[in-house]
Amino acid sequence: MFTKNHIKLDTINSTNEYALSLKETPAFMEGLVVTANYQSGGNGQRGKTWESIANENLLLSVVIEPNININQQSEISKIVALSVCDLLIYLGLNPKIKWPNDILVAKKKIAGILIQNQLKGNKITYTVIGVGLNINQVSFKEYLPIATSLQLCLNTELNIDKIKTQLLQFLSDRIKQFRNGSSQEKEYLSSLFLKDKVAAFESKGLQFMGIIKGVTQSGKLLIQKEDDSIAEFENQQVKYLF
Ligand code: BTN
Repeated sequence: MFTKNHIKLDTINSTNEYALSLKETPAFMEGLVVTANYQSGGNGQRGKTWESIANENLLLSVVIEPNININQQSEISKIVALSVCDLLIYLGLNPKIKWPNDILVAKKKIAGILIQNQLKGNKITYTVIGVGLNINQVSFKEYLPIATSLQLCLNTELNIDKIKTQLLQFLSDRIKQFRNGSSQEKEYLSSLFLKDKVAAFESKGLQFMGIIKGVTQSGKLLIQKEDDSIAEFENQQVKYLF
């Protein structure tokens, strides 16, 4: 699926933005892959920036035509998170998905995912999936969650191109599974960070203890509160305190 149409850039503001800038051109179709060695203005979630030292990490965007309803959009994010986990498990690590889109190893962030949808009515026609995976970078600015990389976890330098090919294979396998109708929900839930564990959260300035029970089809996080009620949170409405 991601083998024919690959644009390799040296420096760009953002691979996601570059892919989106091709929207009106024939290159913008399912299977398009854009990578860069360096992003001068990499986009993170919630308007943050994604920083990555040149030539050390994977900066990847791919285009798919999901043709699903907007209320199923979290399915894409689950598939992408699971395929990053597939890769990390294949490399011998034990990754967790911190809802909605952070991939952690030993509570440290190793990868981030940024999904940008193109809509026609209620349908998602195109999706640009951006993945930033820390590979050979060994020192990071102090963010929360603390960052890590494959090299820090595995004590060895890795080949970025090989990792990219492996990740694209896992992603294309997961997309095929989704299109065949096989559910990946169980795997997603078992990879969910802090699932079924008592943890501290903050919402609207109030701290509370709760237990993550799952994620709704539309992508809201379900937290069981101390009074046993289940509360639903949209992205940005709740913060993990860990
Ligand atoms: C996050 O904040 O966790 C999401 C980070 C996503 C970063 C990747 S790097 C490749 C692609 N291009 C971007 O500008 N962002 C994504």
